[in-house]
Amino acid sequence: MKLSAALLLATGVAFASAQTNFTGDILKGYPVIEYLDLNDVPANTISRYWISAAEAQGGLPYFVPILVARGSEGSLETGRRLSLSASIHGDELNGIPVVQRVFAALGDVVSSGNFNGTIIGIPTTNPNGNIHNQRNFYSSSSNGFLTNLNRVFPGASIADGGSIADSYAYTIWNSVWANSSNADIAVDFHTLSTGSIGPLWAYADFRLDGVQRLAELAQPDHIKIDPGEPGSIETTWVDFGVPAITLEIGPAKNWNQTLIKRSEEFIWRLLDDLAMLPGNYTAPPETVSIGLENTYKGTNFSYVSVSQSGWVQMDVVPLQDVEEGQSVGTLFNSWGDVIENLTAPVAGRVHTVRVDAAAEQGAGVLDLLYNATST
Ligand SMILES: *[C@@H]1O[C@H](CO)[C@@H](O)[C@H](O)[C@H]1NC(C)=O
Ligand SMILES: *[C@@H]1O[C@H](CO)[C@@H](O)[C@H](O)[C@H]1NC(C)=O
Ligand SMILES: *[C@@H]1O[C@H](CO)[C@@H](O)[C@H](O)[C@H]1NC(C)=O
Ligand SMILES: *[C@@H]1O[C@H](CO)[C@@H](O)[C@H](O)[C@H]1NC(C)=O
Ligand SMILES: *[C@@H]1O[C@H](CO)[C@@H](O)[C@H](O)[C@H]1NC(C)=O
Ligand SMILES: *[C@@H]1O[C@H](CO)[C@@H](O)[C@H](O)[C@H]1NC(C)=O
Ligand SMILES: *[C@@H]1O[C@H](CO)[C@@H](O)[C@H](O)[C@H]1NC(C)=O
Ligand SMILES: *[C@@H]1O[C@H](CO)[C@@H](O)[C@H](O)[C@H]1NC(C)=O
Ligand SMILES: [Zn+2]
Repeated sequence: MKLSAALLLATGVAFASAQTNFTGDILKGYPVIEYLDLNDVPANTISRYWISAAEAQGGLPYFVPILVARGSEGSLETGRRLSLSASIHGDELNGIPVVQRVFAALGDVVSSGNFNGTIIGIPTTNPNGNIHNQRNFYSSSSNGFLTNLNRVFPGASIADGGSIADSYAYTIWNSVWANSSNADIAVDFHTLSTGSIGPLWAYADFRLDGVQRLAELAQPDHIKIDPGEPGSIETTWVDFGVPAITLEIGPAKNWNQTLIKRSEEFIWRLLDDLAMLPGNYTAPPETVSIGLENTYKGTNFSYVSVSQSGWVQMDVVPLQDVEEGQSVGTLFNSWGDVIENLTAPVAGRVHTVRVDAAAEQGAGVLDLLYNATST
């Protein structure tokens, strides 16, 4: 019943538009698409789709779940289009519930016919990384490669010589985000890599209009103002003229409810700022925001790494101010001897701290946020 209704909907919609791109497959109750044409998504509805962004060895598709909240009929053209993506790094999980909870809470306002615009949500942008409990995208070619997907956007098709990882990014970029035209503002959620702790913070390229506003609406603890990272989702949006930030939500792996709530709250402030919600709408999450007066902005990171392999004990915590030369931690060998005294290279604010005691030579154990003065 459910299946045939979905099929009817899929074929009916496909008939109505030349661009439409339902494959006809239904997976776990939701249609599989090859291309997201927002005109074919029903108004006043939250829709769920799958897209196969690439195929694993043997032909098994890497299906990516896509949520689309389409507002009132005309608001596809007149309202704003927001992209919310999470977990392009497969061990970075705090953004997943942010996207999920925002969509869950939007249900009533969308079905009431008063939602003004469109949101495309991808809660798990890299299921391959999730499967491997791994930041990167694993490809089985040769004896295996790991690719950081957040360095290969907008990707490259196989026809253009792309690898499986390049073509995976290409599908997300071109078939979900329509080569940027499906969104005019974007947030990509990350966390730190496994093994470190840190606050709520944003990477933001203030050179593009709209980015500073976006970063400040997040009311993060830190804003790293920088020109971005080529191939990242954030910087690809910015290169296409779409204001975007990377929002980093604390540590990998553990769902930190405090930071998740602050991130959800940011999205409600953003929806309000973009006039996507009716004026009488009360956002659901309880208020945990801390305000912009606590936001520390900096343009540079300074890194402390260990020069030998050993066991590290760090003595500073995120958001603590340190002086140049201040002791920040100690590295021990397996006998328990101190083999390195770690000190802050510059004065700044503690950004991230390693909590995984096993530190190999060259491993970063501390990042400080500061403004380098040009000399
Ligand atoms: C879906 O769209 C893609 C890209 O526009 C196109 O290559 C493909 O043939 C389409 N498939 C169907 C089933 O319409
Ligand atoms: C919908 O959003 C657009 C774009 O921000 C805005 O111009 C318009 O006033 C909004 N409509 C309503 C009813 O808020
Ligand atoms: C995406 O847009 C850019 C800039 O408009 C264009 O150069 C490029 O060819 C487009 N890519 C595809 C796959 O259509
Ligand atoms: C979540 O993050 C906050 C802010 O960094 C921290 O104070 C808190 O201890 C964390 N909670 C858990 C359960 O890790
Ligand atoms: C909120 O305002 C909209 C019009 O913008 C109206 O249709 C709706 O009924 C109102 N909802 C409530 C709960 O007052
Ligand atoms: C660093 O510089 C930025 C401007 O680029 C400024 O907004 C910020 O307040 C400065 N931060 C500190 C800690 O001085
Ligand atoms: C600090 O950041 C600015 C802006 O990104 C960059 O131009 C400069 O080279 C950086 N300085 C150092 C010492 O890293
Ligand atoms: C570390 O600091 C302590 C105390 O200042 C000093 O005695 C020790 O020699 C230092 N160890 C190394 C490896 O630098
Ligand atoms: Zn990341």
